Parts: sequence; C-alpha cells; structure tokens
Amino acid sequence: MADNKAQVKDTGHVWDGIKELDNPCPRWWLNSLWLSGLLVVVYFILYPSLPLINDSTKGLLGWTQINEYKADLAEVEKIRKPFEDKLAAMSVNEILTDQKMLNYAIGSSKVLFGDNCAACHGTGGAPAEGAGYPNLTDDDWLYGGSINEIQMSIAKGRTGSMPAHAKLLKAEEVDQLVKFVVNSSNGTATEAGKALYTSKGCFACHGADAKGVKMMGSANLTDRIWRFSGDEEQIRHTILHGVNDGTDTETRVAVMPAWSERLAVILQLTADAIADDEDPTEIDWEDELEGDESERLTETEIKKLAVYVHQFGGGQ
Ligand code: HEC
Ligand code: HEC
Repeated sequence: MADNKAQVKDTGHVWDGIKELDNPCPRWWLNSLWLSGLLVVVYFILYPSLPLINDSTKGLLGWTQINEYKADLAEVEKIRKPFEDKLAAMSVNEILTDQKMLNYAIGSSKVLFGDNCAACHGTGGAPAEGAGYPNLTDDDWLYGGSINEIQMSIAKGRTGSMPAHAKLLKAEEVDQLVKFVVNSSNGTATEAGKALYTSKGCFACHGADAKGVKMMGSANLTDRIWRFSGDEEQIRHTILHGVNDGTDTETRVAVMPAWSERLAVILQLTADAIADDEDPTEIDWEDELEGDESERLTETEIKKLAVYVHQFGGGQ
C-alpha cells in the first residue's frame, strides 16, 4: 500500500500532515455518471420536457399524465362494466339476495354516499348529534326501512310537514302535550294526555297509538329515538313552530332532496299497477314520464345507495 501511494500524483496540499492525493475517480462511478447523462438525453427526447411559453415540448412518446389517468380509468371501467350492466337490469330486492352483486353495490357506494349524502347524514349514515338530520343506521324510520321504501325516499326526496301550533293551543295545553310526548317515550303516558293529543288532532298524523305514520313521515313519539331532540324545550319548539311550516319563521326545516323524479314516478306507477292487479310492463312510459326527467343521480346509483343504506344495520 505504501508503495502504491507513492506512485500516485499528489496535489501538493498538506493539512495537519495529511497529504491530498490526486487519484482518478473509480471507473464504475465515472460510467454511471456518463450513463445518467445519456438517460437525461433519452428522457428529454421521449417525454415532455422543455417548458415553452404556453406549453412544453411534447416528447416522441406523446405521454401525458392525463392520458395515463384515462388509460387507468378505462381499465377500471372495463372491469366494472359487466357488474354495472347486470345491476342496471336488477331490482333492489334481487340485489339483496345476490351476495356477489350486493358486495359490488356496497363497495361502489361508499364514494357515492360520501359525495352526495354524508354532508347531511354523516359518514356512515350517522349524523352529528343535534345536526337535525335523521340517523340512517338505527331501526327508526320516518318513511319506512324496507328496501323499496328506502329507494323511494332517495328517488323522490322527503319533506315532512307539521303545522305550527303556537296559535292553535293554549299555553297549558302546550305544557300538557310536551309532558305527553315525554311520557310516551318512557311508557308513562296518562289517559288525560292521550285525550288531549287526540282532541287536538295530533293523532291525524302521528297515529292513534302515536307511533307515527310512514306515509307522512311523522315521527314515532313513543320511542326514545328522537327525530329532533328529546329535550323538553326542543319538543315544545316543534309543537309551537311545526316542521316545514312556511308561515312560521322559527319552524324546523327538514328537506331531503329528490335525486331522481323520474325514478320516483316509475316506482310509484309500478307499485300502483301491481296494487291494482295490472301488468306494470304494459305501462306506456313514454307518455307517463313526460316532464319528469330531472335526475341528479342515475337509477343504478340510487339502487346502489338504497342497498348501501339498507345494510347500515337499520334496514327492515
Ligand atoms: C340537504 C341534506 C340532505 C342530503 C344531501 C341528503 N339527505 Fe337524506 N334526508 C334529509 C332529511 C332532512 C331527511 C328527513 C326528511 C324529513 O324529516 O321529512 C332525510 C331522509 C332520508 C331518508 C329517510 C329516512 C327515514 O327515516 O325514513 C333516507 C333513506 C335518506 N334520507 C337517504 C339519503 C341518501 C342516500 C342521500 C344521498 C343520495 C341523502 N339522503 C342526502 C336530508 C338530506
Ligand atoms: C299534519 C301532520 C302533523 C300534525 C297534525 C302533527 N304533527 Fe307532529 N310531526 C309531523 C311530522 C311529519 C313530523 C316529523 C317531521 C320530520 O321529521 O320531517 C312531526 C314531528 C313531531 C315531533 C318531533 C319528534 C321527534 O322525534 O323529535 C313532535 C314532538 C311532534 N311532532 C308532536 C306533535 C304534537 C304534540 C302534535 C299535536 C299538537 C303534532 N305533532 C301534530 C306531523 C304532524
């Protein structure tokens, strides 16, 4: 070693007795340097590189990020297409009994729900406490928890309405009704409370048993699941100001937007035909659907979402 060193040129620099030699760089290192220089040129020719004023040089391969994204997307669409086609031809009830399609529908609904529904109903269907939106994960349904009812809720939208009672009731009647509602929720309603509830017309919407009527989306007053709140002041507020009563500025607002009026009409007319013992395949849709074209989500998307909401745990 010592001999070897002696043959190497030195730079003439000496620090603290250490001599700086002038060895050539290792060959492998130099080769990599040249190779990386060459790669720069190759990339430069093949890919977009030099920025110009409004654009950049394109490169021989014509590669762009957006093209790569589109190619990937086309790949995904190709895998999804058979499922989407099959789903389009199935009813929600059929999807529920087909495990493979059910998994697909649920898997592809997460983003759909996140984009369109979670803002109100919360991620996973459970809204923030006191947000004023119904929880979709419990067993308590305003408009029914069957798959068909859920599908209808989404397609048609829902707007429950209860008139403001501030001008219709005396102060002590309001007190008694608040008490009746609280008592009903814990099974201690009195005959007198029930009689007032009936004589003031509450039963017409909430039902003789106060358990709510699905057709109207009137809340069940006998459980401990609250549409708005079980707090006495909040119950009083609902009774005084109602829900969606345009004549009262303090009314509660509860609007579930419609996602496809078109699908809502199709579902309704099909259900009516079946109820009347008629053949729904004979309906002249071209005639019936005129003017009901508004669609914010497609029929297949709504089916997926109905299935998704149904499996949150509260579906019936
Ligand atoms: C702007 C807020 C809002 C958005 C967005 C929204 N909802 Fe709703 N949703 C509501 C409200 C409010 C109600 C209750 C209506 C009422 O009280 O009459 C409701 C009710 C429902 C019901 C009926 C619940 C029951 O107890 O019967 C279902 C099912 C539902 N929504 C699903 C969805 C799905 C799925 C989406 C996304 C496509 C969605 N909602 C988007 C506000 C919203
Ligand atoms: C025209 C129909 C109608 C009448 C009459 C009516 N309600 Fe309601 N009520 C509703 C509907 C619909 C809802 C649910 C609104 C929603 O969620 O969109 C509701 C909600 C409520 C709630 C909220 C329950 C909760 O879980 O937060 C209370 C309390 C209530 N009603 C009490 C009464 C009382 C007491 C009377 C009689 C004075 C009455 N209602 C009369 C339709 C009616």
